[in-house]
Amino acid sequence: MKRFAGSYLDGASLHPEIQRVRTAALEVFAPTEGERLLDAGCGVGEVARQLATRVGPTGSIAAVDLSEDAISTARARHDGSPITYAVGDVTALDFPEGHFDGVRCERVLQHLSDPDGAVKELMRVTRRGGRICVIDTD
Ligand SMILES: C[S@@+](CC[C@H](N)C(=O)[O-])C[C@H]1O[C@@H](n2cnc3c(N)ncnc32)[C@H](O)[C@@H]1O
Repeated sequence: MKRFAGSYLDGASLHPEIQRVRTAALEVFAPTEGERLLDAGCGVGEVARQLATRVGPTGSIAAVDLSEDAISTARARHDGSPITYAVGDVTALDFPEGHFDGVRCERVLQHLSDPDGAVKELMRVTRRGGRICVIDTD
C-alpha cells in the first residue's frame, strides 16, 4: 500500500494534465492568508502543502484521507506548515457544520459509491459563503 501511496500518486502528480487542472483550480479556489481549509481525500498531501503556503501561519489545513498508508506517507513528508493530517472518510467527516472557509476534493468522488452523499458532506462542513472545489479527472 505504501507503494501505491508513494509511487502511483507521485507519478500522477507529474502528469501534465493533472498539473494543468491543479493550477487552474488553485487560481479559482484562491486560498488566502488566515483561511481554514480542508483537502478531502488528500492522498500523500502534496496539494495540502501547497495550500499551506497560501494560508500562511495564521491559517490551517486539514488533510484527510481514508488510507492510513497515504496519511502516514503524508506525515512523513510533513514540512512543518500548519497542516493536520488525519485518517477519515469524506462521506462522514469528523468536523462540525460550517467549519471551513474552503474545501477541496481532487479525484476522490470517482472512487465512491455515493458521490452525492460526499458532496453533501463537503457542503455541510463548509461555512455559508465558503468555496468548494471538486476535481475529477480520469
Ligand atoms: C486518485 S487519489 C487522489 C489523491 C489526492 N487528492 C491527489 O490529488 O493527489 C484518490 C484518493 O482518495 C482517497 N479516498 C478514496 N475514498 C475515500 C473516502 N471515502 N474518504 C476519503 N478519502 C478517500 C484514496 O485513499 C486516495 O488517496
